[in-house]
Amino acid sequence: MKKRIALLPGDGIGKEVVDVTVEVLKTVAEHFHHQFQFDYGLIGGDAIDQKGNPLPEETIAICKQADAIILGAVGGPKWDQNPMELRPERGLLALRKELDLFANLRPITTFDSLLDSSPLKKEYVNGVDFVIVRELTGGLYFGKPSERITYEGQEAVVDTLLYKRSEIERIIESAFEIASKRRRKHITSVDKANVLESSRVWREVAEEVAKRYPEVTLEHMLVDNAAMQLIRSPKQFDVIVTENMFGDILSDEASMITGSLGMLASASLSSTGLHLYEPIHGSAPDIAGKNIANPVATILSAAMMLRQSFGLEEEAKAIEKAVDNVLNSGTRTADLAQGNKAASTKQMAEEIKNALADDHAILN
Ligand code: NAD
Ligand code: IPM
Ligand code: MN
Repeated sequence: MKKRIALLPGDGIGKEVVDVTVEVLKTVAEHFHHQFQFDYGLIGGDAIDQKGNPLPEETIAICKQADAIILGAVGGPKWDQNPMELRPERGLLALRKELDLFANLRPITTFDSLLDSSPLKKEYVNGVDFVIVRELTGGLYFGKPSERITYEGQEAVVDTLLYKRSEIERIIESAFEIASKRRRKHITSVDKANVLESSRVWREVAEEVAKRYPEVTLEHMLVDNAAMQLIRSPKQFDVIVTENMFGDILSDEASMITGSLGMLASASLSSTGLHLYEPIHGSAPDIAGKNIANPVATILSAAMMLRQSFGLEEEAKAIEKAVDNVLNSGTRTADLAQGNKAASTKQMAEEIKNALADDHAILN
């Protein structure tokens, strides 16, 4: 199979984790006889420095010519004082909007070998397997106005939480499709319906959509309770569907069930069929440039790409199995090493490549 993959490494550890993920993908290509062409694009801080724009036109063009996109992360202290339109994060938000990447899937599954790495007790995290379906192109992130204003004669500020009903409907439908066809048929819709009108409409729409999926059970949960339930009993969840900002916050929280933010992969699915794959973490300025970041989130995002965008199930499984084997062997990066000797970003990826190659050689 021949595929074009747009690579947007971005800033900080984004570059480090994408670099090694490309090596893993090259190993997959070699062993399964595929041809992957990699086209690099600038985004975020680097793009601001080189082009004066966090999302240059060339980058959008590179993405649109590709069959799928892999992104590292954007942002860093160097650009934190910039005006909003010249912030790295604006590049990522603009790309999500431009490509209509409205459904962000963030699976949370624990690895047996990492049960001791979670700050939660083993018996609570053992066997956790759910997915957060986060709305990604609406809500507070995109509503206008979002600005400083004068209000009642005083300095004030406004952000706007705006959703078209159709935007709510399509994300909830995506969640029901996933719950019904690929999972255990239980949805927890997370909102703040006791306070927000947007959440009350969200609930209404969820109830409407639920009628079309009688095999799926729908439960509503207020977001503050959901934040607590994720720690109290994470095994209760199968599919969580929620709006943009709640999904952002809950997924970083949920990552610790697995032991580290560096473990969580994601797929941002588009209405157009051109999807983007990215770890849920950021550019981690505190550890950038040290070759110590955990590359697993990005490597598992590449596996999601192979499965979802290219239909390469066997290849996706091969990556996931290689990650599992390496973790079982005891190798892990500093975020999971609990003070023991840690592997570097490159060593971790190298071992995953070797595990993949060994395993595939045995299969042949
Ligand atoms: P972060 O996710 O970058 O880091 C949070 C903490 O987790 C840090 O201590 C970091 O060292 C650690 N961490 C994150 N990824 C790791 C990995 N792969 N391996 C080991 N440790 C890891 O969040 P932050 O510090 O709040 O934000 C830093 C910058 O990243 C900001 O500019 C922010 O806007 C940006 N950001 C970007 C994205 C993205 O591009 N999708 C996501 C989140 C944050
Ligand atoms: C994420 C990040 C982004 C978000 C930022 C960088 C805009 O935190 O991908 O989770 O909030 O969506
Ligand atoms: Mn986030």
